[in-house]
Amino acid sequence: MPIDLERRGAIAIVTMNRPEALNAFDHEQLRLISETFEEIAGDGSIRCVILTGAGDRAFAAGADIKEMKDLDGEGGLAFGRLGHRATRSVEQLPQPVIAAVNGFALGGGCELALAADIRLASENAVFAQPEVSLGIPPGWGGSQRLPRLIGPGLASEMILSGRRVKAEEALRIGLVNSVWPLAELMPKAIQLAETIAANSPLAVRSAKQLIGLAFNGQTIDGLDTEARAFGAAFTTGDQREGMTAFVEKRTANFADPS
Ligand code: CAA
Repeated sequence: MPIDLERRGAIAIVTMNRPEALNAFDHEQLRLISETFEEIAGDGSIRCVILTGAGDRAFAAGADIKEMKDLDGEGGLAFGRLGHRATRSVEQLPQPVIAAVNGFALGGGCELALAADIRLASENAVFAQPEVSLGIPPGWGGSQRLPRLIGPGLASEMILSGRRVKAEEALRIGLVNSVWPLAELMPKAIQLAETIAANSPLAVRSAKQLIGLAFNGQTIDGLDTEARAFGAAFTTGDQREGMTAFVEKRTANFADPS
């Protein structure tokens, strides 16, 4: 299955499992993420969730560029909204979500980690919002959640340059809470999830909701605008050039805007 759900007592482990594409998200995987989290939301016996990627190279390498390449404006908007449904299903889950970031977390992969409550990373984790190099802006909440988490200056640098941020820097700028050798990442995530799961589930849910209130109010409008900008990018030559260049394994050549 492209999304695996494993139970360990009161903990659920959700694994993005498409290693041949470094767990990049096509439409099916994105829909399944939402459905999995919507199912978990209704299961009171699950008290904490860990979200991670299969293999030892990637959490998720973002949206599937090969599939996304041929979308038009309407398709881009719909794909953006599907991504928002997935990230909101993580953010709004009543139970806490820990992202165990075990490698590349790029574009939509970084955005999914941003929707979690807590991020732990392995030493080989790499974060980036490389969308502008593909001719599109971030589309699954990165433009709203990244500035909220690390501040507008650092978020602007990441989003406008697309540059990659390694685990140690991610720790320094508050993008992740802690960094572990790869083999220790899941044990540490499980240990934290067990600590959370041993607390009052009602109080934990209430606390998660309250923390969300501190920020989420302003995010909703921004997300809607982001989805429209993401869709509009799929009517431009830059999107076609950026994504074709990725598939053809060459550098994109963007024209000056008229
Ligand atoms: N979509 C589709 N396929 C992808 C992919 C993606 N996002 N990322 C990796 N893959 C595929 C590669 O095409 C390759 O498949 P083939 O062997 O069939 O060519 C396979 O996964 C392994 O990848 P690489 O050979 O490229 O491995 P690498 O070690 O040389 O590089 C990488 C790894 C740096 C992650 C590189 O694959 C890469 O840059 N991937 C794209 C990352 C990216 O730009 N993500 C953002 C997407 S846009 C987005 O997510 C929009 C949004 O806001 C929602």
